[in-house]
Amino acid sequence: MNMAGKLMKAVCYDSYGGGSAGLKHVEIPVPIPGNLEILMKIEASSINPFDWTIQKGRMRPILPRKFPFIPVSDVAGEVVEVGPGVKKFKAGDKIVSTLGTGGGLAEYAVAKESSTVPRPPEVSAADGASLVIAGRGGPLRGPISKTRKHARDRNMWGRNIEFVKNLGADEVLDYKTPEGFVLKSPSGKKYDVVIHCTTGIPWSTFQPNLSPKGKVVDLTPGGRAFWTYAMNKITYSKKQLQPLIVVPKVEEIECLLNYVKEGKLKTVIDSRYPLSRAEEAWAKSIEGHATGKLVVEP
Ligand SMILES: NC(=O)c1ccc[n+]([C@@H]2O[C@H](COP(=O)([O-])OP(=O)(O)OC[C@H]3O[C@@H](n4cnc5c(N)ncnc54)[C@H](OP(=O)(O)O)[C@@H]3O)[C@@H](O)[C@H]2O)c1
Repeated sequence: MNMAGKLMKAVCYDSYGGGSAGLKHVEIPVPIPGNLEILMKIEASSINPFDWTIQKGRMRPILPRKFPFIPVSDVAGEVVEVGPGVKKFKAGDKIVSTLGTGGGLAEYAVAKESSTVPRPPEVSAADGASLVIAGRGGPLRGPISKTRKHARDRNMWGRNIEFVKNLGADEVLDYKTPEGFVLKSPSGKKYDVVIHCTTGIPWSTFQPNLSPKGKVVDLTPGGRAFWTYAMNKITYSKKQLQPLIVVPKVEEIECLLNYVKEGKLKTVIDSRYPLSRAEEAWAKSIEGHATGKLVVEP
């Protein structure tokens, strides 16, 4: 289908900052795929905290490359048109893509063939879009749950305690209690591995709770994390902190899609929003208390 000259709805921002109020709804031309690119009709996109980190300007001057900028990179949809060099996909194929530099809060997006994988019919668009960046942590959710727990108030406490137990946690900590705050295991056990998926927990809190060769994998590394990593290496510490930045690879996305297809992995979706209410999903992500993915469906 030739979409040249057609318009699409999209959500973008044209300066740093502003949170959800900085998003605006626009109508712009449908993008045109290049030689090795695919034009896709987006069926679902999922928001990651990284997306609004870019809006805050923390990735400048690398991202955004220019304003106005359409955020969000994890998308699933259907191929509409392919560039002349594309071999693996044709119009009508269901796909999952990582756009890398945004473009996902829109009705259509252009994705690289090399950043796109086929989506099995058993995997919904919402599930597919939820897997790309966050999915890398998916198989780890069991062990994560064994080491930490999130709760905010009485309602959240009840809801999230049960949620984490259902994921297979042996023990659950409430970070709003004094014991939970210092990561003390109720059984007194020390942790072999901690997947650190929030911010603001210093090495001095992790260190006493680790087994002799315990390791913290830090999904939210800042300057202090890299400093700790270096100091632990220099001092030959057996306890280690490993900063981790996920760059999604197509083989891994394919593998995760297969896990979902085979029922070995389940995505957890907090809520779904139409594109016309994308700013609500954005605001909820910034609040930091979603239980699972925030999905936008054009
Ligand atoms: N390194 C990488 O490549 C990579 C990849 C993916 C994600 N990340 C990062 O990992 C972090 C988590 O991502 P996400 O998508 O899961 O974010 P998210 O959806 O915003 O996480 C929300 C969850 O975090 C819990 N939480 C909030 N503050 C907490 C605290 N102080 N202690 C324990 N739990 C707390 C919330 O529980 P309550 O509602 O009970 O507070 C809620 O369940 C983000 O900072 C993201 O940028 C990094």
